[in-house]
Amino acid sequence: MKTIALISTAGGAGRTTLAASLATLLARRGRAVVALDFDPQNMLGAYLGLDAFAAEGIGGALADPSRKWHESTWRNEDGVLFVPHGGLTPARSAACEARLCEHPRWLERTIGEIGLPETGVVLIDTPRYPCSHADHAARAADLVLAVCPPEPAACATLVARLPALRESCADVRLVVNRLNPARAMQRDALAMLRGATGNMPLAQRIHLEASMPEAFSRGAWIFDEAPHLQASHDLHGLAQHVDAWLPALTASETA
Ligand SMILES: Nc1ncnc2c1ncn2[C@@H]1O[C@H](COP(=O)(O)OP(=O)(O)OP(=O)(O)O)[C@@H](O)[C@H]1O
Ligand SMILES: [Mg+2]
Repeated sequence: MKTIALISTAGGAGRTTLAASLATLLARRGRAVVALDFDPQNMLGAYLGLDAFAAEGIGGALADPSRKWHESTWRNEDGVLFVPHGGLTPARSAACEARLCEHPRWLERTIGEIGLPETGVVLIDTPRYPCSHADHAARAADLVLAVCPPEPAACATLVARLPALRESCADVRLVVNRLNPARAMQRDALAMLRGATGNMPLAQRIHLEASMPEAFSRGAWIFDEAPHLQASHDLHGLAQHVDAWLPALTASETA
């Protein structure tokens, strides 16, 4: 079982969108997938089919050790098992922060309780990095997908935080999201990012697609509704990259 954290230093970069899309596309390829919402914003469930914010989830288990996250798991129609973050009062949020501080390996241990096969994958959605939740996710991960829009501020903050991120996880790969090749500023920002990060491997470029937010608001996947769009191909490309990185499915899993 491998763990992948989606991390970015910019808000609205597409972490939740990509976590949900990857979870779905990998499940459709026959992978056992757990999507874990480690962002107190509690949005991942909405992308994976819940029509209301889940009240309970991994946040409740973090704030209060007597609660078990196993009791708050859901499975969607694509077979993705997911654990919402759950809603928290300010006092319980503070308890979460304190617990993360006190137990640096809490998330890693919790993920260890998930009994997926060798070829399975846990995908973690995170709040904007740096923060304690995202830091714990990066340290629990075998692979970090650094999601970055090709904008100067997002690229510059990723460059600044990359050394810390690489200390937490040895394998950090770039996902450029919301790419609009017609904009010269984006080309410049990406050239700066490439130059400043040296050999950071590129997992995928995903193009800006105006209909993407609308598809999600209708509870649909863009790669189902409009498979011909460049962004749909890109999302499949990302799933292909991750699938190739994961251990190969066994003959019985592909049967
Ligand atoms: N390639 C894309 N093209 C167009 N819109 C996109 C693309 N990727 C994501 N979006 C849209 O951008 C918005 C932000 O995406 P998302 O919520 O996934 O980002 P996030 O990094 O999780 O944000 P937050 O910092 O709020 O957690 C959403 O409306 C989403 O539909
Ligand atoms: Mg998000």
